[in-house]
Amino acid sequence: MIARRTLLGSLAALPFASTSAFATAAALHTRIIPGANQAVPVIGVGTSRRYAEVSGEEQLAPLRAAISRFAALGGQVVDTAPSYGMAESVIGQLVEELRLRDKLFLATKVGADSPAEGRAQIEQSFRNLRTKVIDLIAVHNLRDVTNQLAILRELKAAKRIRSLGVTTSNDPQYADFEAMMRREKLDGIQIDYALDNRDAGERVLPLAQEQGVAVMINLPFGRGRLFKAVQGRPLPDWAGELQVRSWPQLFLKYIVSHPAVTCAVPGMARPEYVEDNLGAARGPLPDAALRRRMEAFIDSI
Ligand SMILES: NC(=O)c1ccc[n+]([C@@H]2O[C@H](COP(=O)([O-])OP(=O)(O)OC[C@H]3O[C@@H](n4cnc5c(N)ncnc54)[C@H](OP(=O)(O)O)[C@@H]3O)[C@@H](O)[C@H]2O)c1
Repeated sequence: MIARRTLLGSLAALPFASTSAFATAAALHTRIIPGANQAVPVIGVGTSRRYAEVSGEEQLAPLRAAISRFAALGGQVVDTAPSYGMAESVIGQLVEELRLRDKLFLATKVGADSPAEGRAQIEQSFRNLRTKVIDLIAVHNLRDVTNQLAILRELKAAKRIRSLGVTTSNDPQYADFEAMMRREKLDGIQIDYALDNRDAGERVLPLAQEQGVAVMINLPFGRGRLFKAVQGRPLPDWAGELQVRSWPQLFLKYIVSHPAVTCAVPGMARPEYVEDNLGAARGPLPDAALRRRMEAFIDSI
């Protein structure tokens, strides 16, 4: 583990404690993943869709550049899944080729309908990711959740995975998701949340905060939805308070300033996106009043 991470990790004594107060201007804000007991930067990489179909070097090159730049800037969390086409094996190949395994926090998922299917899929994830230890496996969208969590607990006890969780990305699952969170002991959850999609903030995020579990945010831009909403508009004056240079940075700072949130995993398949989005992990974050102003702004357009 790199020295800077160890230093920041030891400064962040409490789950979710931001180390920003101790960090230098250039350092990334980090939060702790309980279970794995590791401080990770608040911006990670999502790999659905753009890492799914790679048939040659032309498609692989920008992905290699994105992952390489991400690690060089101090990024750690990479979120993937067996259901994202070739994404797991693309990540495994790049991580091996770029010798990044000890620098990255590899998170994947299990989406299966029976224990046997789940076990087989997880073993394939180890092969795809070319690693002996996976940092986080989450049950994808609550699928067969009780059985799959039992398998993940065995793997954690055997130290083959470092932490476990469950994901969702749609409102109709929230009631079941909340009930599951009250029933099961988790290290983390993953859920959709964005400036224009704040329903997770009503019950699930407060519950996660109360329980002290890590929270990874998917769909932070609602895919293209937020970009369409602000198309052609300049950044508002108050964006200066946040030292943001782009809409993506503004949208991400809204997310990672929520006190329950550990990190957001925007889909990033280009090095310029990585450069831009990691800017949201530095500098001032909005306080509660500015967060309300951001919400009022997006609701008004
Ligand atoms: N249930 C689940 O477990 C679940 C569900 C959904 C997603 N996820 C996870 O969450 C991750 C994020 O979701 P997502 O990738 O679908 O959507 P997203 O993060 O909301 O949007 C990603 C898209 O935004 C654009 N983008 C990213 N950074 C940009 C920048 N700086 N400037 C301009 N455009 C930028 C890119 O579009 P272009 O590529 O078109 O340029 C990118 O594909 C996924 O990759 C996946 O890992 C999990």
